[in-house]
Amino acid sequence: MKRFYQILLPQQRTSSKLHEFQKENFKRYTSNSLKEAKCLNGHPNPLEEEATLYIHWPYCQKRCHYCNFNKYISQNVDHGRMRKCLVRETETLLNLSGVKKIKSIFFGGGTPSLAEPKTFAAVIDCVRAKVALEDEAEVTMEANPTSTEAALLAEFKVAGVNRLSLGVQTFNEDLLKFLGRNHSVADSLRSLEAAKNIFRGRVSIDLIFGNPTQTLDMWSTELEGALQVCDDHVSLYQLTLERGTALFKMYENGDFTQPSSDLMADMYQSAVERLSEAGFQRYEVSNFARGNSKSVHNQSYWSGAQYLGVGPGAHGRFMPLHNIYSGTRSFVREARIQTLEPDGWMCEVEKYGHGTRKITRLSKVDVLNELVLTGLRTSEGLENSNFEQLSGGVSLHEVFGDSMVVQDLDRTGFLEVTPEYLRVTDRGLIVLDSFVPDIINALNKYFAGS
Ligand SMILES: C[S@@+](CC[C@H](N)C(=O)[O-])C[C@H]1O[C@@H](n2cnc3c(N)ncnc32)[C@H](O)[C@@H]1O
Ligand code: SF4
Repeated sequence: MKRFYQILLPQQRTSSKLHEFQKENFKRYTSNSLKEAKCLNGHPNPLEEEATLYIHWPYCQKRCHYCNFNKYISQNVDHGRMRKCLVRETETLLNLSGVKKIKSIFFGGGTPSLAEPKTFAAVIDCVRAKVALEDEAEVTMEANPTSTEAALLAEFKVAGVNRLSLGVQTFNEDLLKFLGRNHSVADSLRSLEAAKNIFRGRVSIDLIFGNPTQTLDMWSTELEGALQVCDDHVSLYQLTLERGTALFKMYENGDFTQPSSDLMADMYQSAVERLSEAGFQRYEVSNFARGNSKSVHNQSYWSGAQYLGVGPGAHGRFMPLHNIYSGTRSFVREARIQTLEPDGWMCEVEKYGHGTRKITRLSKVDVLNELVLTGLRTSEGLENSNFEQLSGGVSLHEVFGDSMVVQDLDRTGFLEVTPEYLRVTDRGLIVLDSFVPDIINALNKYFAGS
């Protein structure tokens, strides 16, 4: 049987799975690990001075049957209050991180296209007032086809958004209903046309495959249709049954069965091939781009860069200043999670300037574990120069050179190992889940006791 691995979504990658992993591997912060961290993070280092920014808009019009993101259905959103709180928390976290530059911004959700454009303009203005943000910096907004009329998209563009990620999910009317979406295929096509006119070359669509009634032929037909209308970026997600969702309950009630893992793998593989014929490069397991359309923001997550997470339930990873007045840095990267529930989060932001609910200090090994888990999913793989920056000068060769597992995977064509990089081959990607734990073990064994 083919092994197929879970396709993780950006937010999940930086939340549930990695977070569980960190909890398990969490080493208490000691004076020894501070020394390590200083040396790990080296000296003038863009990893300290730059970050990307994730802003979470927590509201949706309707709960989709499959979704367990941090979202709330509200008819009475207090836009003015949310705006003030998002700006205030952005200010606080920029101060605390001491970064001098924000490289990209991502407005995710929830459904950020339900926000008022002036809210995002206010956040972008706040960033520009405090740190460098290049004019052409990537600013992405997630959007749902129900809230993307051309006029509104044009307003978001004026506000500073220059890239759109549209949640099309499927071009099949029945499957849209099954997923509990509140839009039709015609709505998606209309939104997509409007989005392409306004953000030409910078529109991504999200598609979900692996719906219970979907056959390989249905999926191929759907993908063909998508290729007729899409722009230059596609994100593909395998339908995942998440606890607490309507779909999970239906599954438990026996209302449907899941497609076999072989069929899922065939669907994914056929999409990889068809997208490649159409000129798309798979630059990460779930992400395909042609031309110059790779997402800068997502790539920064996968290369271990710092990011600030603002808004209810947002996640961040950055090295805070010890003392914001003197500008001394702690040299320890922290994982931060903001309070989940929007009203509670707003009260905290109003009171303290931020709604950070949990802080976990990350050891060097935690940071490297994240880098390996995300980096192996990318076409560039783990680059030695980047690995050395985060490991304090330890090379990939030093860590994995003696690993029998890595040597075997190299010999059998699942990994490509050179002094410059460690990369999973196309063949390896199909069975990635089966050997990632071995690579992680090799990493942890090397650093054990250090
Ligand atoms: C935060 S959501 C979406 C943005 C927007 N609210 C929308 O739904 O169009 C990001 C993407 O995650 C994907 N997604 C969410 N839950 C999923 C699940 N259980 N299985 C597969 N894909 C999922 C969907 O493709 C969705 O577009
Ligand atoms: S998939 Fe998007 S629109 Fe649907 S509930 Fe989740 S965040 Fe909201």
